[in-house]
Amino acid sequence: MQTSVKDKNIVLGVCGGIAAYKSVKLLRLLKKQGANVKVIMTQSAQLFVGPLTFEALSGQPVCTNLFEKDGSVSIRHIDWAEKADAVIVAPATANIIGKLANGIGDDALSTFMLAATSLAILCPSMNTHMFENRAVQRNLERLKADGYYVVAPASGELACGAKGYGRLPEPEDILDRLLCYLTPKDLKGKNLLVTAGPTREHIDPVRFISNPSSGKMGYAVARAAEHRGANVILIAGPTTLPDPLNITIIKIQTAQEMAVAVFENLENSHIIIKTAAVSDYRPLDPAKQKIKKKKDKITLFLQKNQDILKELGRKKKDRILVGFAAETEDLEENANKKLKEKNLDIVAGNLVGSPSSGFGSDINEVTLFYKDGTKKPLPAMKKDAVAHILLDQICALHPHS
Ligand code: CTP
Repeated sequence: MQTSVKDKNIVLGVCGGIAAYKSVKLLRLLKKQGANVKVIMTQSAQLFVGPLTFEALSGQPVCTNLFEKDGSVSIRHIDWAEKADAVIVAPATANIIGKLANGIGDDALSTFMLAATSLAILCPSMNTHMFENRAVQRNLERLKADGYYVVAPASGELACGAKGYGRLPEPEDILDRLLCYLTPKDLKGKNLLVTAGPTREHIDPVRFISNPSSGKMGYAVARAAEHRGANVILIAGPTTLPDPLNITIIKIQTAQEMAVAVFENLENSHIIIKTAAVSDYRPLDPAKQKIKKKKDKITLFLQKNQDILKELGRKKKDRILVGFAAETEDLEENANKKLKEKNLDIVAGNLVGSPSSGFGSDINEVTLFYKDGTKKPLPAMKKDAVAHILLDQICALHPHS
C-alpha cells in the first residue's frame, strides 16, 4: 500500500539557520501533498524568515512562544504534540540537537519535542566543521539511539563560503525520507533488483540506437521498494532522473553492460523487476570514427542482444521475476507470450501511444498478467502508485513472505 502524507498532521520545527528559507519550500511541498502542517519557530529562526510567511502558507497560526495560548485551555505545543503524526525539524541547528540530546526544553520547539511521541525527523544543517564537531556528532548518535530519524546533510557549497557536508537536503528529499519512515516495512530483508531506462547501442562515437524510455517507471519501483524496507539495486540506462536515496545504483549504457550488471547481482536477489527498455539489437561492427555522409545509402548490420529476462527465467529458482511489456497492438496475447516464454510470475503490460501510458509520462495505465492466466487491469495512475500496487502483488506471491 502506498503511504501518503494526505490529511496527516505534520509539525514543522524551524530553527535559526540560513537554510530556514528552504523550510518554506518544504512547507509548500507538504501542503501540496495534502498534509495539515503546523509550524513552530525558534527565536533565532524568526531572524531569517518571518512567522507571517509560514502562517500564510500553512493557513495555521505559527507557534513562537512557549507560553502563548490559542484561545482554548490547552497550551499549543502540548496540544500539537498529542495530535502530530510526524514532526520534522528543518533546519536543525547544533543548538536544538544539543538540547534534545540532553532533554532540555527551554523554548516552544524544544518543549514541544520533549512532549512529542510521534515519528521525529531531524535535518541537521550547519557549517561543516560545526557538523563534524565531536559534541554534535555525539549528540546525533545519542538522538538516533533515542529513536530520532536523522537525515544526513547534503554536501556542496555552504552559505559561509566553505564546501562540504552541512547543506539542508532539498525539500523533495526530506519529503521522500518522511514517506519512507512512515511506510510499513513489508519488504524488509528482501533483496530487490530493478532495471530501468533505455540502453544505447553505438553506431559510431557520436550516434546510437536507443528508445524514448525515461526510466520513470523503474525509478518509481526502486523508490517504492526502498520505502518498504527492501535492499534495492537499481541498474539504470541513461536517464535525467535524480538518484533515488538509499539505493545502490549501477549506471550502464548498453544491453551487454546491463546483462553483466544483472548477472553479477543475481545470486542474492529475491525479486527482479525488469522495467528497462532494452535494445533488442546492437550494431554488429560499430565504427571507430564518426561515419561521414559520403554515400546516399548505407547498410547497418545489427546483431541480436541477449534477452536478459529470458536468461533470468532459465535461472529462476524461487525468485520472483517481473517483466514489462510495452506493446502497440495485441497487448494480452503478447504479454501472455512473454510471461510464458520468459518463465515470469507477472508481466505489467501497457499499450504505448495513449497519453496515459506513453514513454516519459508520469502516469501509466497497465494491466498485470499472472502466470495462472488471470489478469488485473489498473486504471491510469501515477507511476509511484503503479509501483506500489505491483509490490503489493509481489508480497502476496513471495514464498518467503
Ligand atoms: N528484455 C530483456 N532483454 C532484452 C529485451 C527485453 O531483459 N534483450 C526484458 C525487458 O526489460 C522487459 C521484457 O523483457 O521486461 C519485455 O521487453 P519487450 O521489449 O517488451 O519485449 P521483447 O522481449 O524484446 O520482445 P519484442 O521486442 O519482440 O516485443
